[in-house]
Amino acid sequence: MNINGKHYRTIWPHGETSVEVINQNRLPHEFRTLQLKTAAECAHAIKTMVVRGAPLIGATAAYGIALAMREDTSDESLDHAHDMLLQTRPTAVNLRWALDRMRDRLRNHPREERAALAWKEAAAIAEEDVAVCRSIGEHGLKILREAAAKKKSGEPLNILTHCNAGWLACVDWGTALAPIYMAHDEGIRLHVWVDETRPRNQGASLTAFELGGHGVPHTIIADNAGGHYMQAGRVDVCIVGTDRVTANGDVANKIGTYLKALAAKDNNVPFYVALPSSTIDWTLKSGGDIPIEERSPDELLKMTGRLPTGGIATVEIAAPGSEAANPGFDVTPARLVTGFITERGTCAASEKGLRSLFPHASTSSA
Ligand code: MRU
Repeated sequence: MNINGKHYRTIWPHGETSVEVINQNRLPHEFRTLQLKTAAECAHAIKTMVVRGAPLIGATAAYGIALAMREDTSDESLDHAHDMLLQTRPTAVNLRWALDRMRDRLRNHPREERAALAWKEAAAIAEEDVAVCRSIGEHGLKILREAAAKKKSGEPLNILTHCNAGWLACVDWGTALAPIYMAHDEGIRLHVWVDETRPRNQGASLTAFELGGHGVPHTIIADNAGGHYMQAGRVDVCIVGTDRVTANGDVANKIGTYLKALAAKDNNVPFYVALPSSTIDWTLKSGGDIPIEERSPDELLKMTGRLPTGGIATVEIAAPGSEAANPGFDVTPARLVTGFITERGTCAASEKGLRSLFPHASTSSA
């Protein structure tokens, strides 16, 4: 997608020596990129959320393995890089999916072939992510076309989204936002309610930045406002992304997603979850088994923003001494989800629904 008229992806290679990423911790105030030259630098970028969003975490980890193979192609080096990268963030299963795919691909090849092969496989993961997200966009577009056809002429279709599941969370396009970009591009009149997404504000700082860059009309709302707008009939459809879907269709996504799904159910607003198949964890039966990342209390107790003088500052917003708890994700039960939008089409949020699209997926690994 574009930033100031220039096309970017979130991650791109330099020869076979490093990868460059957009530093998402600086957005929307500053556009800065970073070069990652080692697996450890990739791990650090994932852990500190320079890169974030389930598919992008996977792609960055894959390049991390490729960078490790530049230095040492032994089995020990492969296992060490795999384990180090796997420990960076616990909830998004795309991380394990990408790392296992890299390790499985390299393991049975002679050491002298591994460096080139690793680079090729990481690039394939990134390319596939773009194609998969484009396909999610095309399938989701059909849902948005139908919803828009029900609107009175001239009225925009109002879509609510949570966190950032746009191109910044993937390599390009996004999951939840891909159908929105395509609908906007084909002239469907729409408007997006962007949940601010406390505590890290991925909605206010990333989703709004993306939508604005593409000219999509949008309004940032406090996380607690979504239910109110749904009651008032001002939300036609919700679309969110996800970090892990279990075999029965339960959905882990950014904290606050569950409350939106409850409000949507109570107000008969369709609630869709957009996902690549790399986000399905066939090894877990239900959402209660998903590891939920516990993040630093500082994300709640402090806020970062731009000062009138132009500088960026972090300020405390709570009384000194208060404790804070900060689960990064919650689980939305499958019964609250209207449907999944995947690269192979849409389906019910259930094991049967998922199996109808992915009949051959293995239950032994993600
Ligand atoms: O903590 P983050 O910013 O990595 O969380 C991101 C989300 O929860 C996204 O909604 C999810 O990864 C889906 S991204 C296509």
